[in-house]
Amino acid sequence: MNTELKMSARFEEIREQQHDTWERFAAGWKKWDGMALSWLAPFGEAMLRKAGLREDAHVLDIATGTGEPGLTAARRVPRGRVTLTDLAEHMLAVASEHVALRGLDNVETRVCETGALPFADASFDAVLCRFGYMFFPDIGIANREFVRVARPGARVCAAIWSDPLKNPWATTILGTIARHVDLPAPPPGSPGLFRCAGTGYMREVFIESGLKDVHEEEVATDMLHESPEHYWTFMNDVAAPVVAGLAKVDAATREKIKAEVLHQARRTPRDDGGIRLRSTATVIVGTR
Ligand SMILES: C[S@@+](CC[C@H](N)C(=O)[O-])C[C@H]1O[C@@H](n2cnc3c(N)ncnc32)[C@H](O)[C@@H]1O
Repeated sequence: MNTELKMSARFEEIREQQHDTWERFAAGWKKWDGMALSWLAPFGEAMLRKAGLREDAHVLDIATGTGEPGLTAARRVPRGRVTLTDLAEHMLAVASEHVALRGLDNVETRVCETGALPFADASFDAVLCRFGYMFFPDIGIANREFVRVARPGARVCAAIWSDPLKNPWATTILGTIARHVDLPAPPPGSPGLFRCAGTGYMREVFIESGLKDVHEEEVATDMLHESPEHYWTFMNDVAAPVVAGLAKVDAATREKIKAEVLHQARRTPRDDGGIRLRSTATVIVGTR
């Protein structure tokens, strides 16, 4: 097989894995939707500040999952429109429930993939993508698609997880699993939470796709849980790498991992007895 064919077969494989994973985990995201919405809101707010939305803007939210930050954007563009897109129908179904519950009449949904967006050139005044890039088969191709559908002067704005050391919400459990489970190193370019975290990585992607005035900002908040057990259940319900890692161990090892995770999580107490886990992202914007 030549290199190009191998790459496209690899991209197809990633797409299918992501599709199946997110369809499967949509129920967990729906269960924890309220918690995830408030946890991730500061990242969405930082993106919307940078997106410079006019009241009549047409906004595209890519990999919107259960609907953010597009749903929040919809209120800021009362004379405009928001198009929510995602690869996984079941994730988008949760977003559609929000559209109905909030009585939004300027939002539409569309199942689609980032490699070939079903929109004409220069269709949108802003393109948003919160915590999606790390799952795309090819990040450069995806970003060039976002630029293609953005109007001249439109902003493309993203949030990606930064350094693992600044993200104990993820490393508390994933680091513990990694110490107990012999996981083979994934091939380069594989999806993963910290795939875009390298210094300057996203900046280069943005500049390479032709975006101008590229700016980055670090944004941090806390993931709050009423107890360490709550955190354990949440991560088992929404995080595919946690479930995949734990599936490789026997019951005794799983209990050992759980005990270590709960112990570590207890070291970040809140005044009310709950726990807080730092969560840090880079928010990046560029202009078409
Ligand atoms: C962590 S969720 C982010 C959801 C939302 N933007 C948020 O911040 O709450 C990642 C989403 O990326 C979607 N996704 C993964 N690969 C994709 C692709 N190739 N094209 C479009 N969406 C994709 C998944 O279906 C999932 O809903």
